[in-house]
Amino acid sequence: MIALSLAEIAEIVGGQAHDIPDPGARITGPVVIDSREVKPGSLFAAFAGERVDGHDYAERAVAAGAAAVLAVRPVGVPAIVVDDVQGALGALARAVVERLGTDVVALTGSAGKTSTKDLIAQVLGRHAPTVWTPGSLNNEIGLPLTALTATEETRHLVLEMGARGIGHIRYLTGLTPPRIGLVLNVGSAHIGEFGGREQIAEAKGEMVESLPSAEDGGVAVLNADDPLVRAMASRTKARVTLFGEADEATVRGENVRLTETGRPAFTLHTPTGCSDVTLRLYGEHHVSNALAAAAVAHELGMPVQEIATALSEAGSLSRWRMEVTERPDGVTIVNDAYNANPESMRAALRALAAMGRAREAQGARTWAVLGRMAELGDASLAEHDAVGRLAVRLNVSKLVAVGDREASWLQLGAYNEGSWGEESVHVSDAQAAVDLLRRELRPGDVVLVKASRSVGLEQVALALLDGEGEVSGR
Ligand SMILES: Nc1ncnc2c1ncn2[C@@H]1O[C@H](COP(=O)(O)OP(=O)(O)OP(=O)(O)O)[C@@H](O)[C@H]1O
Ligand SMILES: [Mg+2]
Repeated sequence: MIALSLAEIAEIVGGQAHDIPDPGARITGPVVIDSREVKPGSLFAAFAGERVDGHDYAERAVAAGAAAVLAVRPVGVPAIVVDDVQGALGALARAVVERLGTDVVALTGSAGKTSTKDLIAQVLGRHAPTVWTPGSLNNEIGLPLTALTATEETRHLVLEMGARGIGHIRYLTGLTPPRIGLVLNVGSAHIGEFGGREQIAEAKGEMVESLPSAEDGGVAVLNADDPLVRAMASRTKARVTLFGEADEATVRGENVRLTETGRPAFTLHTPTGCSDVTLRLYGEHHVSNALAAAAVAHELGMPVQEIATALSEAGSLSRWRMEVTERPDGVTIVNDAYNANPESMRAALRALAAMGRAREAQGARTWAVLGRMAELGDASLAEHDAVGRLAVRLNVSKLVAVGDREASWLQLGAYNEGSWGEESVHVSDAQAAVDLLRRELRPGDVVLVKASRSVGLEQVALALLDGEGEVSGR
């Protein structure tokens, strides 16, 4: 963060100074909400959660070097007291971004935000100092905390914005107003909470409504291949740039294919020319993410060749998203257990099938170890059934459905699509899946592990990579 004095911060957030001997003292360390992350000169924002109240840790934070605490009541150590800590954090982020004048790139979508944000960060990072959302900290607290890590050197601030309802993106764009706003897709993630795809589109579209006009430099980067995203063009004053495989896309992918190692490759076309890209990431869905990243980089003036090289060299910065590890015995584990929805399940299964084809000559078998996709509302049965069926259609060798009711729907879908005997099985929990796999896996096999976050299936992937260990409790 830029060094601000406690007096300046109190003024920005409309707070009262308490127990502050020197209002001219500056915040020189990071703004944190966990007292264990305090560094010398930090500002510790005390949040009252369900189980712990940050105010109880104020003293500890100051002892660890925090210059002050942002709190809702005096805490006996230097504090700026406000009515609402979240609101104050947001106001501070907004003021800091405004003072720095950093160019903000914001992105949202149903699936692929973190993957795309990581690609954008790696592409732009080559060209100028860039700060980006760590992991998936895309909400009303993570977003300001990220923005507050920007400094005078920062040229690009790349921010992931998540939404679970109408108004959420509007709130986030209000804190860190983007100049470039990207919408990836409108899928069915959180459809149960939103009520339907149109509502999801309504909520995600708040991104482009927030942008400055074309004359003021606003750019809406929209997915040409997703009709609900493309339709957002009518909701913005910004200039619209389309990315995708459709002919109308300004930044276009052509000749999209999977290489023989199962990696996505394509020819990238931008108005500055074309260049070949082979991603280091697995799964066809990353083509769309890479084209989105390319469109942002193009808007920021990067030439096509440089974008293509950066994309071809970019790795995964966030964990458990198609994380591919080969064990010494030649078994490959694909840990995509970070999250799942119907679109990402389909993409991951297609990637698994491609990896299997690439290893066909060695007699490799493909295993899909899948669990529940949460928050699907009324569509849940049909979606689980469809995923089970797709696994069979893609010729995945073995489906292991893990968990309760939804897992039985997955397995039943596979059975009804024509899986035989042991080709699809239903096991009760992660430990049972691990026991089964430990017995059955052979060198050359490829195992995909995927479910919604709440299922915790990464434990299966970790146990398989770990040798003899048990699945640890969560
Ligand atoms: N363009 C895409 N289309 C469909 N699925 C995708 C796409 N990109 C990534 N995925 C899959 O979606 C899942 C989540 O990916 P990622 O973490 O990048 O998304 P996210 O939008 O950040 O999710 P969250 O809402 O949890 O923050 C992964 O399983 C990944 O394989
Ligand atoms: Mg994310």
